[in-house]
Amino acid sequence: MPKKIFSLADARKLARRRMPRMTFDYIDGSAGDERACALNVEKIEALRMLPRVLVNVEQRSYRKSIFGQTWDLPFGIAPMGMCNLTWPGADAMLAKAAREYGIPLVLSTMASSSIETTAERAGEHAWFQLYVGQSEEVAYHLVERAETVGYTNLILTVDVPEIGFRPREHRNGFQSPVRIGPKQFFDFAFHPHWSLLTLKTGVPTLANVNIDGGKKFQRNEARGKVDWDFLARLRERWPGNLIVKGVLGCEDAVRIRDAGVDAVYVSNHGGRQLDSAPAAIDMLPQIRAAVGPDYPLLFDSGVRNGEAVIKALALGADFVFIGRPLLYAMGAAGYSGLQEMIELIRSQIDISLAQLGCTDINNIDASYIIDNPLSENR
Ligand SMILES: Cc1cc2nc3c(=O)[nH]c(=O)nc-3n(C[C@H](O)[C@H](O)[C@H](O)COP(=O)(O)O)c2cc1C
Repeated sequence: MPKKIFSLADARKLARRRMPRMTFDYIDGSAGDERACALNVEKIEALRMLPRVLVNVEQRSYRKSIFGQTWDLPFGIAPMGMCNLTWPGADAMLAKAAREYGIPLVLSTMASSSIETTAERAGEHAWFQLYVGQSEEVAYHLVERAETVGYTNLILTVDVPEIGFRPREHRNGFQSPVRIGPKQFFDFAFHPHWSLLTLKTGVPTLANVNIDGGKKFQRNEARGKVDWDFLARLRERWPGNLIVKGVLGCEDAVRIRDAGVDAVYVSNHGGRQLDSAPAAIDMLPQIRAAVGPDYPLLFDSGVRNGEAVIKALALGADFVFIGRPLLYAMGAAGYSGLQEMIELIRSQIDISLAQLGCTDINNIDASYIIDNPLSENR
């Protein structure tokens, strides 16, 4: 099959055509006027990198380790809820790609595939992301299930005390489970490929949170209970690596580090929460300076290509996660779209290392960024 995706814009355009408006807007949309989302991308794009010349770059490596595990690429798949709304079978595609490309896949609490199924599909590539609703017991039960089937990396997301107000979701009447009124009916009818496949494979449900007896976790319920005391209790209960996601402040990052957490995940949730949040990339160097040179930092929000991955690493991240681009790719062309997108970002990283005169991605540091905030002689 001829290739379709040569840039992020290609994937987004194709996805927009193939997906119903409601589900495209669910993945593409952000909070408020969508400024935080746009700013994430703009601020990364505005960063300029300094090439070094006359370096033999015939051999290049972009493998990266985190928590003692080495990955074939320096990026992983960010946790995203209800991916199967992008394209039927998306969760399974992500798990397959995680194995094929040797990258981590973070399964969301809000996924349409269970903790157990994803462990089977992705093996040691699978990490688990936890949301805590009104009931701590439900959260601990999820964590125990993850531990039982062998997950070793747990990400607690803390930037969703309430779901952000995303105008496009409200305008389209987006709900979970999906409710079909006349507007949605016409939307689906105009996208028969997506709709028929979804009918055939089954309308996606929240596979992790609605199967247990007792109190269930609803998408719209407040998640504001999570506080420092909860973090301490979770730290005691979870024996594996614990990561806190959705951090933008230096003081918070330091306090999380001091609470015995293994890594801070710098992110503004792709601009889906607080529209006036800073661009995540702007906070990354400050957080790196605050937590010290050796403390693990993960990063996402606004990464759209391989150069962006390198820029985040240069400004202090140890590992980078990619969100929307992978969803656009599956919306555009299913599994082959996902392969094309990962392959594209991989080759952009590889080619950029050559342009920068750098043979090993582990040698990328702040000196590759012009006017970087981490440099003392700015
Ligand atoms: C459709 C969608 C669903 C998401 N669901 C979750 C989730 O369930 N848990 C979570 O921690 N983050 C979730 N996120 C945020 C991503 O993990 C990540 O922070 C964000 O996509 C980064 O922004 P970017 O995709 O614009 O680069 C979601 C993002 C999208 C686009």
